[in-house]
Amino acid sequence: MSAHIKPRETPAYDMPLDKINVSRPELFRTNSFWPYFERLRAEDPVHYCAESDYGPFWSITKYNDIMAVDTNHQVFSSEAGLGGISIRDQQQDFRLPMFIAMDQPKHDKQRKVVSPIVAPENLERLEGTIRARAAKMLDELPRGETFDWVDRVSIELTTQMLATLFDFPFEERRKLTRWSDVATAIPGFGIVDTEEQKRQELMECAAYFTLLWNERVNSEPKGDLISMMAHSDVTRNMPPMEYLGNIILLIVGGNDTTRNSITGGVVALNENPDQYRKLRDDPGLIASMVPEIIRWQTPLAHMRRTALADTELRGKQIKKGDKVVMWYVSGNRDEEAIENPNDFIIDRARPRQHLSFGFGIHRCVGNRLAEMQLRVVWEEILKRFQNIEVMGEPERIYSNFVKGYATLPVRIAA
Ligand code: HEM
Repeated sequence: MSAHIKPRETPAYDMPLDKINVSRPELFRTNSFWPYFERLRAEDPVHYCAESDYGPFWSITKYNDIMAVDTNHQVFSSEAGLGGISIRDQQQDFRLPMFIAMDQPKHDKQRKVVSPIVAPENLERLEGTIRARAAKMLDELPRGETFDWVDRVSIELTTQMLATLFDFPFEERRKLTRWSDVATAIPGFGIVDTEEQKRQELMECAAYFTLLWNERVNSEPKGDLISMMAHSDVTRNMPPMEYLGNIILLIVGGNDTTRNSITGGVVALNENPDQYRKLRDDPGLIASMVPEIIRWQTPLAHMRRTALADTELRGKQIKKGDKVVMWYVSGNRDEEAIENPNDFIIDRARPRQHLSFGFGIHRCVGNRLAEMQLRVVWEEILKRFQNIEVMGEPERIYSNFVKGYATLPVRIAA
């Protein structure tokens, strides 16, 4: 069992079950949510929380139950009402339709438009670019002094990749980082001060991407995401807010998640020096380490659905319209599905058996791309550095959705 889980010594075990509310972002910022999920998995795996900042909601906490919900899109909608895919409802007066938050048949059609971005031949082409950029960036890192891994490596690398996928003006790429952070920010907690500021910045994103759309729609079709949407019959006439919604989806999908996996790997290896040693001795283990990092980190803590009909799960009556939250972060630590789930083990027999990419019709489009990027980064890291040493506690993000790091101080020997 890893050091951060201390069963029965925490408030998680002192409070009545029905008072447990795992949606509090503070639990994630302080990394103290683990025992709550551990208790729910053991005592009340399909759990009802009657009161929270997001209204009442069900928590699904076990691996197989999450699979059952995620693959039953007929009953569990990604779109219904003011729903969507996070525990926080969409806002009535600022709705951003995007295909991750759509049901069939529209979802399937829009997903198909952008899927060629991860076709094997495209991934092969991207790999060379990603490797060259990663190599250059790693060569330029400071030696013998403490610096922030999140900013210098994780953000920079994923932002560069995103700029490539959109064929976005490269020098302006940090705009993408900003829009990604703004899109998932809770106003008043560091990134934006108010809801108005958030909306205004997202509208700037819309204006910028509209210029790119106009440029692409009038040129020959190319392999970037904007061109794919501009030249497809399915997406050519999207209303402006739907275009913005899909852009935000692609920005956030391809950014925060991979970013936090790159950082998570460094954290995991530092917490498990025996695994770091094993990796140094056999860099061939990168292939199985990458999915293990993605499981261990679980960059998106949950996905949410809305029940379209009354239904039963583990004897609990879920009513039509109820909010159902699949806690991937908990399912990935379910001891009935994964052996020693709290341990970080870089040579697991079935490392891709995890929930971090979801399942069913919404399973992550970018999963192979994310894995390729992480593999390339670790290959280039191991060619250069014996050790990336974590020098202090990471600062974690205040969110129950994006599970990751704001900063991570590290040092590479001179
Ligand atoms: C480690 C990295 C990543 C993680 C953990 C991750 C996780 C997820 C999850 C959990 C879902 C929803 C699954 C469901 O509801 O069943 C999803 C969907 C999606 N992801 Fe990723 N993702 C990652 C990387 C990427 C990348 C690099 C892209 C780049 C384009 C991307 C694009 C998308 C899109 C477009 C969807 C919506 C798919 C749909 O609704 O059909 N993701 N991702």
